[in-house]
Amino acid sequence: PRILVLASGSGTNLQALIDASRERDYPGQIIAVGSNRPGAFALERAAQANIETFVVDHTKFQSREEFDAALMAEIRRHNPDVLVLAGFMRILTTDFVRAFRGIMLNIHPSLLPKYTGLNTHQRVLDAGDQIHGVSIHFVTEELDGGPVIAQAEVHVAPDDTAESLAEKVQEKEHILYPIVIRWFCEGRIHLGSDYVLFDGEPM
Ligand code: GRF
Repeated sequence: PRILVLASGSGTNLQALIDASRERDYPGQIIAVGSNRPGAFALERAAQANIETFVVDHTKFQSREEFDAALMAEIRRHNPDVLVLAGFMRILTTDFVRAFRGIMLNIHPSLLPKYTGLNTHQRVLDAGDQIHGVSIHFVTEELDGGPVIAQAEVHVAPDDTAESLAEKVQEKEHILYPIVIRWFCEGRIHLGSDYVLFDGEPM
């Protein structure tokens, strides 16, 4: 399977996937990395790994629709089997999400359905939660609302800060995302109407 990764930032999740996909038995291949930000370090990581990159700079477009159409054209050119959002910080239009329904995955730093949106670590601290974590889900039209495929938990310690929590959660992200992408590439995960099938069974 052909994996295309979209990233806006530092790309530590991309790096984890690059490293995992180098394992001899990894079932997928990263064929391109795209970003909306020309300076994203994720692009540097891809180049280092000899992976093709492209940029669709959102600041150059008048509307979200035009940006998404250009991004969609770039993605289509690469004909991916799976579209991996790894810190891709743009809200996508309904048309875009529909076009890639069932093959688009996202990672979100909270135990969904709790804490959709931004600043999840601080919000967890403010709420006094003792358990926090990361979710990987199919992307549907609802922001951070698509069916969850897998989650990993971390414990919130009394002396945790938003930064220390982010670090703990990222450590889990880097383990979990390559595993879920492996399952997807192996054909084990499918998106139903509003649920996930794992090995053909609703999970
Ligand atoms: C991750 O924490 C992810 O959960 C969130 O954005 C961050 C991306 O980090 N959506 P990186 O670019 O993979 O380092």
